Amino acid sequence: MSYLSLGYPKSMVEHQFILEAAAALERGELVAFPTETVYGLGADAGNAEALRSLYRLKGRPASHPSIVHLQGAEDMELWSSAVPDAAWLLADAFWPGPLTLVLPKAACVLDELTGGQTTVAIRVPAHELAQELLTFFGRGIAAPSANKFGRVSPTCADDVRREFSSDLALIIDGGQCQVGIESTIVDLSGGEPRILRPGMISESSILAVLSGKTVAEPIEVSSTSIQSPRVPGALLSHYAPGCLLQLVEASSLAAKIQSVLEEGKRPSLMIFPRSAEALTSILVPGIIKHLICSENPEQYARDLYRQVRLLDSPDTDLILVERPPQSEAWTAIQDRLSKAAGQRFRFEQEGIDV
Ligand code: TXA
Ligand code: MG
Repeated sequence: MSYLSLGYPKSMVEHQFILEAAAALERGELVAFPTETVYGLGADAGNAEALRSLYRLKGRPASHPSIVHLQGAEDMELWSSAVPDAAWLLADAFWPGPLTLVLPKAACVLDELTGGQTTVAIRVPAHELAQELLTFFGRGIAAPSANKFGRVSPTCADDVRREFSSDLALIIDGGQCQVGIESTIVDLSGGEPRILRPGMISESSILAVLSGKTVAEPIEVSSTSIQSPRVPGALLSHYAPGCLLQLVEASSLAAKIQSVLEEGKRPSLMIFPRSAEALTSILVPGIIKHLICSENPEQYARDLYRQVRLLDSPDTDLILVERPPQSEAWTAIQDRLSKAAGQRFRFEQEGIDV
């Protein structure tokens, strides 16, 4: 049934959907919902059976922990046995928003959520519909990105529909995700804070908050002040599209395209405007598709997974992506692109037909 076709205004329809989604979660069913980063595949974080069906549907190993989404920062104390000052500071600065905090878990938190670890990952999302769902549901919602394990994260409701079609009680459509890549994860569970996964909230803005400076103030980022990644299950295979993806420096693009075409392969390209202009003469029929990406890192992140999905088609053998700049604003984008490239190249080196 479509409430819209019955003539109800959109706001009421959304409201009705949220109520239905909250009821489905209550019954132990799974629902997909939008967040500002990517769409989440949600289950009641306090229901072991629902969490097991979430992992089954996603195809994710049970040892791989999920993030619990909460309505407000004050709920952290229900999920963590010891909320450090740093967590309150970061929550104050960045929640609701694209930041996840890893804290020591409270005794009641299920192993099915944490993969048996002693810590729990917590996020308060900013998307209005995620907030409404959390408010109606009234408890924590476990939500990994709503894609099959290791695949590209969904940034619109259609991406989720294509991957899970009829497996879900409900998919809440909140339009295109505004951030476009997954949250920054900071581990505050012991000693020094550590960035486990870079995101669009940068390391220097986190350091600025933790050292009591205003975010706008320039700050020296030392490699020892926030330690390097250690995300359990930070597999190279994450975020991988179906076909090969390779990062190429702007200066090598023309030569790379020529050699790929000479090998009889069909490449698609994701390049910056300047390269597109420079390459006009060789953007020949052998190239399946080419997409121009934004020079603004926020816009680039917003478009990234949608563009990769557009290029990832059966008639493409290889996606050549122009390597983005090395500056801090591009760190999370670099991370996702090199992970997407990583797996396929491992396969290629091993001679496995992909
Ligand atoms: O933006 C996001 O974070 C999205 C939206 C839906 O909120 N969620 C997301 O979830 O990306 P997922 O499950 O695809 O990625 C969560 C990451 C995983 O790499 C997992 O290893 C890490 O968070 N994680 C979860 N719990 C953890 C814990 N207790 N300690 C360390 N890492 C943890
Ligand atoms: Mg994911």
